[in-house]
Amino acid sequence: MAVTQAEFRSALGSFATGVTVITVDYEGEVHGMTANAFSSVSLDPPLVLVCVDHRARTHAHLHAKKRFGVNVLAEDQRAISEYYARPTQDHRYAEREAAAHFDRTAHGTPVLNGALAYLECRLHSAQDAGDHTIFIAEVEEVVVREGDPLLYHRGEYRTIGGSVAESPEAQGPAKSPR
Ligand SMILES: Cc1cc2nc3c(=O)[nH]c(=O)nc-3n(C[C@H](O)[C@H](O)[C@H](O)COP(=O)(O)O)c2cc1C
Repeated sequence: MAVTQAEFRSALGSFATGVTVITVDYEGEVHGMTANAFSSVSLDPPLVLVCVDHRARTHAHLHAKKRFGVNVLAEDQRAISEYYARPTQDHRYAEREAAAHFDRTAHGTPVLNGALAYLECRLHSAQDAGDHTIFIAEVEEVVVREGDPLLYHRGEYRTIGGSVAESPEAQGPAKSPR
């Protein structure tokens, strides 16, 4: 029995993720795209992947530049996530509308200020898969800072509520009462 798109979305939406903005230089301007289909792939060499819709402008930019940044958003960066998720967004107003400020790496890749982590990525390979392309990239440099992440779950933005207590099983066998 075929899975409907609604069922598929609902199942995948139950998988909580962080939120990233993929950044790429496009003719001297910062181009960004909100993405949560992001994952680590390999430790040695350090590889990550991001899945990008064929219709996204970012798709052509990644193929053209073969270099991009992955910025892991902090909990106070929801407006930036929303800004870079709009399809027709003119990115000239990112600073004014979403308080997004960027620096550039030595390679010219835009780095989002205030993000929890930044990964400088060089394209390794690209594999078409359905209506998306899996871009696999080698991570050449990382920057990490303290803070809590922005999360996405069932179509809503969330923040970390706290840690989950260790399960009793993990603490060893319970002592039987005498
Ligand atoms: C939380 C969130 C996660 C998203 N993740 C992805 C993703 O992993 N891949 C993708 O292609 N689009 C994803 N999108 C949708 C893109 O951000 C959106 O289509 C964007 O407008 C594409 O921009 P572009 O056309 O400038 O590249 C996501 C949107 C949101 C709100």
